[in-house]
Amino acid sequence: MTTIPSPSPAAAAAAVTFVGAGPGAAAHLTLGAYRALQGADVVIHDRLVGEEVLALIPAHVRRIDVGKEGFGPQVAQEAINAMLVAQASAGARVVRLKGGDPGIFGRLDEEIAALECAGLAYAILPGLTSASVAAAAIGQSLTRRGRNASLRIVTGHDMAGFAEQDWRGMARAGEVAAIYMGRKSARFVQGRLMMHGADPATPVTLVENVSRPDQRIHACRLASLPETAARTTGPVVILYGLPPRAAATALHDLKEA
Ligand SMILES: C[S@@+](CC[C@H](N)C(=O)[O-])C[C@H]1O[C@@H](n2cnc3c(N)ncnc32)[C@H](O)[C@@H]1O
Repeated sequence: MTTIPSPSPAAAAAAVTFVGAGPGAAAHLTLGAYRALQGADVVIHDRLVGEEVLALIPAHVRRIDVGKEGFGPQVAQEAINAMLVAQASAGARVVRLKGGDPGIFGRLDEEIAALECAGLAYAILPGLTSASVAAAAIGQSLTRRGRNASLRIVTGHDMAGFAEQDWRGMARAGEVAAIYMGRKSARFVQGRLMMHGADPATPVTLVENVSRPDQRIHACRLASLPETAARTTGPVVILYGLPPRAAATALHDLKEA
């Protein structure tokens, strides 16, 4: 057995601090993330970081937007890696600010690997992932005793195209999955799940623009998932197996499919 000393959560010694911005609102930012932003020389951020969070970056801090759009990166990952290394090597206190939690579909490992290659220290401050905040918005728990003892966090697509998952397992009654980047693959996901016996009446809730002023909740059934997904335009997280609770939906602009 190897015991590794736990790195200090105070990211003081880190050349680069990876910071989770949460899905949008400043209220969903951690205190640690806020402090890291205040102490930064440069903040390198993604497209999905909310305006409210960006507004918390002090005016003297240099901001670099390396936002990526859909499938195609606007700034190549290699260029982002090189930028992190260059800034940190020059002695800047770098915050790498990513939407949601940097460890969930955030290409965190690739950026860490670049820093490790350059011998640079890093720290990670996790953030609220969009699925957690989406579930809260519909008044639901992502797990429930007697319903689902596990939660799947899956992506609708990967580098190779539509992503294959354990469809058979996901199709079982009571399963819950948070599907990220699922708009374009909604018909594929529906087809795979139904092919493996999922009930077309399985509740599905799409939460669009989670934690932003234009947040929208779209409740549907698996049978109408593709049509519902096609009505969304902003970032959307698909909560498979979860309907909104009535009390929560009364608070939101609920669109029944
Ligand atoms: C590259 S992944 C990043 C996920 C992020 N690291 C997280 O933890 O939420 C981008 C996908 O996350 C989801 N997402 C991120 N922010 C969102 C938001 N504010 N509202 C809805 N979905 C969001 C969408 O599925 C989007 O296509």
